[in-house]
Amino acid sequence: MQIGAATAAYQVEGAGDGRGPCIWDVFAARPGAVLDGSDGALACDSFHRWPEDVALLAELGADAYRFSVSWPRVQPAGSGAVAPAGLAYYDRLVDALLERGITPMPTLYHWDLPQSLQDAGGWPERDTALRFADYAAAVHGALGDRVTRFATMNEPWCSAFLGHGSGVHAPGVQDPAAAFRAAHHLLLGHALGARAMPGADVGIVCNLYPVLPTAPEFAPQARVVDEIQNGLWLDALAHGRYPAAVPPADEHADDLALVRGSAAWFGVNYYTALRVGPARPDSAPDQASYPGAGEFGLHPRDPRTSMGWEVVPEGLEQVLGRVARTLPGVPIWVTENGAAYADDVRSADGTVDDRDRIAYLEGHLAAVERARAAGAPVAGYLAWTLLDNYEWAYGYTRTFGIVEVDRDTLDRRPKASFRWLAGYLARQREVTSTGDTQ
Ligand code: FCB
Repeated sequence: MQIGAATAAYQVEGAGDGRGPCIWDVFAARPGAVLDGSDGALACDSFHRWPEDVALLAELGADAYRFSVSWPRVQPAGSGAVAPAGLAYYDRLVDALLERGITPMPTLYHWDLPQSLQDAGGWPERDTALRFADYAAAVHGALGDRVTRFATMNEPWCSAFLGHGSGVHAPGVQDPAAAFRAAHHLLLGHALGARAMPGADVGIVCNLYPVLPTAPEFAPQARVVDEIQNGLWLDALAHGRYPAAVPPADEHADDLALVRGSAAWFGVNYYTALRVGPARPDSAPDQASYPGAGEFGLHPRDPRTSMGWEVVPEGLEQVLGRVARTLPGVPIWVTENGAAYADDVRSADGTVDDRDRIAYLEGHLAAVERARAAGAPVAGYLAWTLLDNYEWAYGYTRTFGIVEVDRDTLDRRPKASFRWLAGYLARQREVTSTGDTQ
């Protein structure tokens, strides 16, 4: 199994030079939209500091690096002219990774839709999927001679239902019908994008979670939550149909024939499980993120990370088993897994001593190994995330990195979890090279 780390353009790059505006720039400027009022204009400045990031990945011993390509850096207006300087950034990054023996795994869309496409209607509009395919062809044209494995969309559930249901993510729309249209066009964009990259190994990345009712009477709500979180994407990709929770639409039929079988590999982002129970006073965003599920609230139990997400390693094993059964023969990658913690303990030399994060990673890697032993074809595991970065609506208030980033100097300092993961990787290489298991 390959092991490495993941990041996303808006969360680490900073605007750098020549990037067009995206929906997160505009959303982050709305008062109250982001917890600390921050945006991704500087982030970790990986646009300039990428050589340091690549050196860190090499020090980690990473087999693979999942990063995302910023659509508005490649096509500042979202369509038409490609910015050569934008593509050149990824060109250099890819070359540097390959020189270090690290497989580049670019994701084409990690939530940074060019604002001009949002002004034209965004993902609820079919045209956005067509524009995405053009953009995918441009990136493939530039990198496809050296990169084989691409992901199209990252977590389309978030783009569709956090972006257009609860509105807690960009573009901050609250309209369930628009959320379902966005979901469909994200899948269509994936399928058209895959076709636009002939010869590439193209997958899609979804955030899947076990959905557990807290009591039998919440089974109906849990069924809808499961259909929207998990079934929508898996059923469309495996069978070319949507579960009952998705309102029917005329445009679905032909498109779903394209979506079916369009993932050559499947990426699972896994963080937690969802316990569906009684509504709480603050349940409105949960309900709006799962339109049609009715009245309910999410009830994470302890232990929880600083996102409030329950730590449920065995849920990863379950999800990997479900994907393996639903998409037989399709290689699976754990494309994100990790945890935000307070990082308030340091060892004598000043290193963040994040034993909680180490325990999280260790528990989830063990779950991946159990899933593999049970037959799930898991090809790789990528920790979220290399660097403390811009955590969307939480701004810079939540840290998921295995490397600390000083917010004043942007200096990078590996945490204890970085050293731990480097050790895990080294041990695994030893086992592999002595021919025991893979
Ligand atoms: C996922 C996102 C990623 C990061 C983690 C914590 O939903 O794909 O960008 O924010 O959560």
